[in-house]
Amino acid sequence: MIHLNGEFMPIEEAKISVLDRGFIFGDGVYEVIPAYSRKPFRLAEHLARLQASLEAIRIANPHETAKWAELVGRIIAGNPWEDQNVYLQITRGVAKRDHAFPKGLKPTVFLMASELIPPSAELVKTGAAAIVVPDFRWLRCDIKSTSLLGNCMLRTLAADESCVEAILVREGELTEASASNVFVVKRGTVLAPPKSHLILPGITYDVVLEILRDNAIPHEVRSVKESELRSADEVWVTSSSREVLPITTLDGRPVGHGQGAGKPGPVGARVYALYQEFKARVMRAPAHA
Ligand code: PDD
Repeated sequence: MIHLNGEFMPIEEAKISVLDRGFIFGDGVYEVIPAYSRKPFRLAEHLARLQASLEAIRIANPHETAKWAELVGRIIAGNPWEDQNVYLQITRGVAKRDHAFPKGLKPTVFLMASELIPPSAELVKTGAAAIVVPDFRWLRCDIKSTSLLGNCMLRTLAADESCVEAILVREGELTEASASNVFVVKRGTVLAPPKSHLILPGITYDVVLEILRDNAIPHEVRSVKESELRSADEVWVTSSSREVLPITTLDGRPVGHGQGAGKPGPVGARVYALYQEFKARVMRAPAHA
């Protein structure tokens, strides 16, 4: 079951205008909110990021927080999976084609869900392969925009090489990956690029930083050079659907050194375990956490 502009229906029945600016220009924003055991994870944070994306592109938020929580809850209840990804999209609405944002449109509001399948224990144990490529996207990657052609092109380059992710570098520095944030471990210290216009402020990124802080795991939020990425002891990607996934080869070369080369490292394994504990705690909590 999906939601479109105030109504719930099967996805086959959902129709939008070909003049929807989401279709014509990619003029819209979105969120992917994981739900575990039918409980949305970090809902308030996802809705705050949605608000920031809407403000950045001058769309008035069509709903109050309580209404969003109700819609997300109804989608979760109306779909068959215990663990789901709730996808939520708002476009500017329908108008004659003209680049400048028209005023006074009625935004198109769409929610759907899919089964949430986190990376298998097997993949987490072996780690995954990634490529490193120039970040040729625009300079407002902090907006969670549905205009994802750059990200799709970059992810396809990774898929061409049978890799799960394309890790992106701009002017010699690590930004993020095509659909995830990136953490690097150097000599026991976890490094994370700071939030800026060049990366999406990931909800999982925030959770991982909280875990690092709460468990006194050495970490620094600072820019990370491409050379530091390529010589890292560990590399992980994080996202709502990938959680904390170790990357064990970059461009076909093993990540890490000596005996650990090409294998997931100890810091990532610890953070992965702490992330699973964190999720379990949230699922047991009575209210939205
Ligand atoms: N992608 N960076 C980019 C470019 C992303 O697309 C995503 C998420 C992230 C991680 O954000 P979060 O931790 O809030 O999931 C970082 C989602 C899952 C997607 O587009 O499907």
